[in-house]
Amino acid sequence: MLIDSHAHLEMRDFDPDREEVVRRAVENGITVMVTVGTNLRDCRKAVAIAAKFREVYAAIGIHPHDASGIDVETYRMIRKLAAEPKVVAYGEIGLDFFRNRSPREVQLRRFAEQLDLAAELNLPVIIHDREAHRETLKTLRSWTGKKPVIIHCFSGDAVMMEECVSRGYYISIAGPVTYPKNDKLAEVVRLTPLERLLVETDCPYLTPQAHRGKRNEPAHVLYTARRVAEIRGLSLEEVAEATSRNARQVFNIP
Ligand code: NI
Repeated sequence: MLIDSHAHLEMRDFDPDREEVVRRAVENGITVMVTVGTNLRDCRKAVAIAAKFREVYAAIGIHPHDASGIDVETYRMIRKLAAEPKVVAYGEIGLDFFRNRSPREVQLRRFAEQLDLAAELNLPVIIHDREAHRETLKTLRSWTGKKPVIIHCFSGDAVMMEECVSRGYYISIAGPVTYPKNDKLAEVVRLTPLERLLVETDCPYLTPQAHRGKRNEPAHVLYTARRVAEIRGLSLEEVAEATSRNARQVFNIP
């Protein structure tokens, strides 16, 4: 039994066969999937999908790519959606200094605002950090929220992981850990305390090596968990049990 802590089932890529994708995940032992909205339209869709499928929970927030589109109305809608029963986290929010689809100063301002909103809504936060490790850690330092922080698709090194763990954050590992020559991430996986580890797909993106080039889906979190088990010298069951327990705690899923 595994939990995919970060999927994008609301994205158009899954419109033709979403039901089948969820069914395939469940058949493969994925008992919970957290689907993560990235803009207002997709957040609404994520909440609707969570209402439809027993195994799916939702996270809502505005991705750094879409930070420039945020206005007062956006936050009003997010507040409304946060009251829905299966919303378990705020995200994904953060900084993307790789693509820079929104100007950096806008990303920084909207990240800080959304962290405040997440604290007010008393939700854990799912963090997107691409090529912005220093600024992400700096911004997170002043967060006043009492709920967990999840660094989604962790891409830092072991030093950054240690800083995150010392602050009580969770490290979520995605498909790139299955790619050849990903020694830096393998080292992070080896050194992260088991009680801080999560696994995710970030589907439809970041397809594990075995299916690389095709659309990713929650069932494939199995490949990531297997690789994590291999790196740590544990059984798949041990990794599944630990990461599922962590995810249930983080998202408060019974
Ligand atoms: Ni994502």
